[in-house]
Amino acid sequence: MKDKTFLMIPGPTPVPESVLLDMAKHPIGHRSSEFSKILESVYSDLKYVFQTKNDVLVYTASGTGAMDAALSNLINPKDKVLSLVIGNFGQRWAKIAKALGADVETIEVEPGKAIDPAVLKARLDKDINKEIKIVTLTHNETSTGVTNDIKTLVSYIREHGALSVVDGVTSLSAITCKMDEWGIDVLVSGSQKGFMIPPGLSFLAASDRAWEVQKKCERPDFYFNWETNRKSVIANSTAFTPAVNLFVGLKTALEMIKAEGLEKIIERHTKIAKGLRVALKAINLKLFVEDETIASTTITAVYPPENITVPDIRRILKNDYDIEVANGQNQLKDKIFRIGTLGFVSERDAITAVGSLEATLHKLGHKFELGKGVAALIEYLNK
Ligand SMILES: Cc1ncc(COP(=O)(O)O)c(C=O)c1O
Repeated sequence: MKDKTFLMIPGPTPVPESVLLDMAKHPIGHRSSEFSKILESVYSDLKYVFQTKNDVLVYTASGTGAMDAALSNLINPKDKVLSLVIGNFGQRWAKIAKALGADVETIEVEPGKAIDPAVLKARLDKDINKEIKIVTLTHNETSTGVTNDIKTLVSYIREHGALSVVDGVTSLSAITCKMDEWGIDVLVSGSQKGFMIPPGLSFLAASDRAWEVQKKCERPDFYFNWETNRKSVIANSTAFTPAVNLFVGLKTALEMIKAEGLEKIIERHTKIAKGLRVALKAINLKLFVEDETIASTTITAVYPPENITVPDIRRILKNDYDIEVANGQNQLKDKIFRIGTLGFVSERDAITAVGSLEATLHKLGHKFELGKGVAALIEYLNK
């Protein structure tokens, strides 16, 4: 049977039907008053999701585009950047900073762990001459399913005086992230995650302090230039030809987000991910991140049972049950698989996923009590 594929990868994530239908229309002119009204609504609602009073810039680019936009408006050659790396996406910040000519230092931890705030504090305390200009961080590391304690980390960066530049690609609209209240200087995200629309748009907001640093950037990028893009936001317009239909879908998706409310959305993600973890353990699977205090509520990484391979699990889930889960990345490829519970995800989806995973593992000869995962999940959800 065709057309039944269900994405449980950490992005792109499923898209609500109302959003799909809104996007399935002729593109409208991006300089029309009709489009300007859509932009007005989108720009205003994005501030709600980012929890900021500042303008949120929107780029027609994937999440990495907004990461590039962040650093290419702040870094001058040889600036010292400290990158906190807990996985693939933390590493990406360091790579972008290096490409822009920064002097990059990293604090790196083994996959599956979070940054210890005390380690960051000790490094920043040593920087008495305030050489570190920028600290890059990942809120939710998609490659491992670990969430950093951004609130504490950012508070230490604030105390030191450097700018905090945070990747909120798989945390915004799913995990608590209070940009203004926590003092985050630059926060970026992408459309194909908690925003429940397809890939193609990315978002960036900056604090007043970051805007001051941007003014001193000698060679800010042209397409991603913050000032050019902010002028357009203020005018309910866009600097260049945007992905018009994605904006149309985004308007509807943001209205859904506001109607449900961030608090409820965060609760929903927490409940589903925690229930999933309980279920996976009940069918004798080992979680990659055992520490509940740092385990992501949008991505859960799991080891395959002994003698069963990740490609076999993914293949059967896809072919027989139309469910896509993600492989591990880089050195974790074929060592773990990752289940996304991000964005447009419900309890029904989790029950379906656990049931289908049980059926898959049963076919592959894994030893467990059939039905125990689904039962544990339902008990958790109904508690
Ligand atoms: C945490 C995180 N940061 C950055 C990115 C990069 O986003 P994109 O692939 O949209 O460029 C991703 C993509 O999965 C991500 O999960």
